[in-house]
Amino acid sequence: MSESQLWDDVDDYFTTHLTPEDEALRAALDNSEAAGLPSIAVTAPQAKLLQLLAQIQGARTILEIGTLGGYSTIWLARALPADGRLVSLEYSPVHAEVATRNLARADLDDIVEVRVGPALESLPRLAAENPPPFDLVFIDADKGNNPHYVEWALELTGPGSLIVVDNVVRGGRVADADNPAPDVQGTRTALELIGRHPKLSATAIQTVGSKGYDGFALARVLP
Ligand code: SAH
Ligand code: DHB
Ligand code: MG
Repeated sequence: MSESQLWDDVDDYFTTHLTPEDEALRAALDNSEAAGLPSIAVTAPQAKLLQLLAQIQGARTILEIGTLGGYSTIWLARALPADGRLVSLEYSPVHAEVATRNLARADLDDIVEVRVGPALESLPRLAAENPPPFDLVFIDADKGNNPHYVEWALELTGPGSLIVVDNVVRGGRVADADNPAPDVQGTRTALELIGRHPKLSATAIQTVGSKGYDGFALARVLP
């Protein structure tokens, strides 16, 4: 059996017993696939980690950068109280439209707002609204802009907030300083910025599973 087949089998086993998907989550994935969106959403076990982190954090407000079909958005929004708020930024009008439908079907349209456009345009607009600090930021869009997203996350959070960055390993390519790919360089610059930032305490964890070999970075804004 190949290694990746094993990773799939273990993720299936975990999903069955620990992180089962309900109808709304399955529909979100089915609708995303039917609409031709790429199959790059977080897995159910990864999504549940995000949800647990939001709950441990006692999050009332969440910012997501990179919505896709709203799969991670649903898991995260379900960690929020009824008067909570999640803002999710998405470049593609098609992805945002699919996500908006999926969120409505999950009955989350009251607390989730999907904003369409390049995140680097939406973020300054959001900041100009002077929102209360976001308790959790999930960065999962175009990896080349990760350093900018971390800077904006710092602008939009406060002491005790948590910043999570997806896809920081990319099959191990992150360790190759000479790899010129923008996703690798963007992620490396972001991780190094996080590592030396006086207001952040951080780690990164490698993961395997049905999405292959990748990982998350976690950074807490110091109290
Ligand atoms: N968080 C989702 C997956 C996001 S995939 C989940 O796990 O379910 C990455 C998304 O980022 C894609 O939908 C892509 O269109 C979006 N994206 C890419 N570049 C972007 C940009 N500049 N601004 C905002 N979103 C962007
Ligand atoms: C890609 C993007 C993601 O956010 C992810 O989790 C996996 C893959 C991609 O662009 O290939
Ligand atoms: Mg991702």
